[in-house]
Amino acid sequence: MKKNVRKAVIAGNWKMNKTPAEAIELIDAIKPLVKDADCDVVVGVPYVCIPAAVEAVKGSNIKVSAENVHWAESGAFTGEISVPMLKAVGAEYVIIGHSERRQYFGETDETVNLRTKAALAGGLKVILCVGELLAEREQGITFETVSKQIKIDLAGVSAEDVKNNVIVAYEPVWAIGTGKTATSDQAEEVNAYIRTVIAGLYGEEVAEGTTIQYGGSMNAANADELLSKVNVDGGLIGGASLKANDFAAIVAAASK
Ligand code: PGA
Repeated sequence: MKKNVRKAVIAGNWKMNKTPAEAIELIDAIKPLVKDADCDVVVGVPYVCIPAAVEAVKGSNIKVSAENVHWAESGAFTGEISVPMLKAVGAEYVIIGHSERRQYFGETDETVNLRTKAALAGGLKVILCVGELLAEREQGITFETVSKQIKIDLAGVSAEDVKNNVIVAYEPVWAIGTGKTATSDQAEEVNAYIRTVIAGLYGEEVAEGTTIQYGGSMNAANADELLSKVNVDGGLIGGASLKANDFAAIVAAASK
């Protein structure tokens, strides 16, 4: 991390876990443990937990994120949730382009781009997920894959928004929920590469100021090592974000 140049952000991605009552319980447990954090702390929660989570984080340093959002303001999109709806219940962030959305729900870079632009236009901060499949890594096309994702996902997004309102999360798909973490060198290599792609699109200054997280089996035991890398500016945490002590340990690692 280069905390003097860009923000370190630790974000939990709870995925399809926790009821509203359980969300309050977990946030109440996390709050005292992260109150002195020297990084931004975000919890990404299921849609139905957002109102309870927003209420529970009041007066603390924790922010609430949604896990997806549709690009239209309203309309005939059964099962979808819009930016004004998320704003109305107090969400400040939204995770977009998570590999589970891409893998299981037909998300493409084009729809990720639409969602990203709508979220930013509506005043949400975006955690944009990119990352290669195992087959892509084995074929030696990791850089091509993340470069294509970044270019399409951010098409039409302003430099100002990229610098201030977009967090990129590099999440190698083979490391998500598998217990197989990328080595800190692998994370650093791709995060540094993503920064060069952003520099190519938006210039050095924007690239240097953009927070680029690593995600994929980050936990209390490996967070220190991963976060010691200059281009790893935080983490998007799945499994370990569901346990208050583990999540707090990662926040503590990012606060050093
Ligand atoms: P994991 O998930 O930490 O459980 O691997 C990370 C993510 O999907 O964001």
